[in-house]
Amino acid sequence: MTGPEACSTEKKWIIGELALMETNVARPLLPRTYIERLHLRRPDSCFEAYLCISGHSFAVSRARRTDFLHSRELFYYDSLSFERRQKSFLLGRYCAKQAISAFLPEPDMRRFSIHHGVLSQPIVRHSASSNVQIGISHCDDCGGAIAYPEELPMAIDLERIDDDRMHVIQSQCTPEELALSLSLPVPAATGLTLLWTAKESLSKELRCGLMSPFQIFEVKDVEPQPDSFIWTFRRFAQYQATSFLIGNTACSIITPRKTEMTLDTGEINKVVCDPYPD
Ligand SMILES: CC(C)(COP(=O)(O)OP(=O)(O)OC[C@H]1O[C@@H](n2cnc3c(N)ncnc32)[C@H](O)[C@@H]1OP(=O)(O)O)[C@@H](O)C(=O)NCCC(=O)NCCS
Repeated sequence: MTGPEACSTEKKWIIGELALMETNVARPLLPRTYIERLHLRRPDSCFEAYLCISGHSFAVSRARRTDFLHSRELFYYDSLSFERRQKSFLLGRYCAKQAISAFLPEPDMRRFSIHHGVLSQPIVRHSASSNVQIGISHCDDCGGAIAYPEELPMAIDLERIDDDRMHVIQSQCTPEELALSLSLPVPAATGLTLLWTAKESLSKELRCGLMSPFQIFEVKDVEPQPDSFIWTFRRFAQYQATSFLIGNTACSIITPRKTEMTLDTGEINKVVCDPYPD
């Protein structure tokens, strides 16, 4: 969406009752689910995207899966043998369908589906002609998705901060990248994981994933913001990654450079890291 309306900086995150008010429909909202309408301001245009992050349990999404999965997705889910994949599939699909549902808008999440392209990239199938694009990520108990217009490419990546993975991350970084991540005002493992998600989100944006040498996604610089970090890239000067923390999970969102994005990281943390059980 372009034009002055979309350029409004008014805060418009939508959760629970607010989600109902904005779209006048009852999408099942599972626990610890955060949905935000992101305003994306470019020097000469404005766009909107929808972010959904959720930390609900596998037991909940398994019990409620028929509320949000399309019959094709249910069929695929039933073919999965491993619980780990069943869990990540449901978490990622739930977030993706919430974000797409708000973007279209299409209140009934069972009326559209997400399938994989030949590079395993997620693709939205919906009867209405729409150029809605979707990015998905999941790690352990946290899932995230971003629905965005084709005009403004985006991607998302989530990674739990895990000391045991640090040697793997370090082995994929240049000395300059290590120095940049260690310069951040966060513990070393946190800085490295934020860096990793910035690079992995770029790899998704380019649709190649980690099938390409990770070095090509090398970061060039990082700029601390009040509640996030903005990375730029050595070989992909047209992109930037905004990284932030959701509890013990690092999250990065890729946008084209010179894109200002509204993002309420405090509210995301409050909702997704809610300590009450499902
Ligand atoms: C994409 C990739 C980096 C994801 O990393 P990950 O840490 O394992 O997983 P995440 O949870 O962050 O992201 C997984 C999601 O990324 C998306 N994804 C997968 N491949 C993608 C690609 N090429 N481009 C963009 N997104 C992709 C999917 O939606 C997937 O979720 P889903 O399978 O539940 O739909 C990794 O899987 C990869 O390198 N894949 C290579 C894909 C490829 O080239 N396949 C060729 C055909 S075999």
